[in-house]
Amino acid sequence: MSARDELIAAARAVRANAYAPYSGFAVGAAVRDERGRIHAGCNVENAAYPQGWCAETSALAAMVAAGGRRVLAVAICGVADAPVTPCGGCRQKLREFAADDCPIWIADELGLRAEHTLGELLPHGFGPQHLRAPG
Ligand code: THU
Repeated sequence: MSARDELIAAARAVRANAYAPYSGFAVGAAVRDERGRIHAGCNVENAAYPQGWCAETSALAAMVAAGGRRVLAVAICGVADAPVTPCGGCRQKLREFAADDCPIWIADELGLRAEHTLGELLPHGFGPQHLRAPG
């Protein structure tokens, strides 16, 4: 299995654990870190609706908790008419750990549906480099 398909498979598998009783919209995400490890997460909703969070956020939290600091690739799995691209907030969260050329593979239960880079999804994004001292 290719590295891409392995990441997509991880996103698809974790989607089965999504806690989405309010929207019924299950999402899984997986990131590959700088050591080649895969970290996966699903969306976790809450009765106080705004307190829920996305699958991508869960995957990033798992990576950071495991000591990962760079995202080299992302896979997202969701089922909808249109490919399930990350929300704006998650694009920004990914930006913290990923470069503009980081691939973001969008899949559904059947496989790959779309491919983007982070730079395409979040052009001219604000990032850690803006906070570095000038000069
Ligand atoms: N959701 C994600 O987990 N990731 C996305 O990329 C899009 C949206 C979740 C949030 C919420 O639990 C549900 O999908 C419906 O918006």
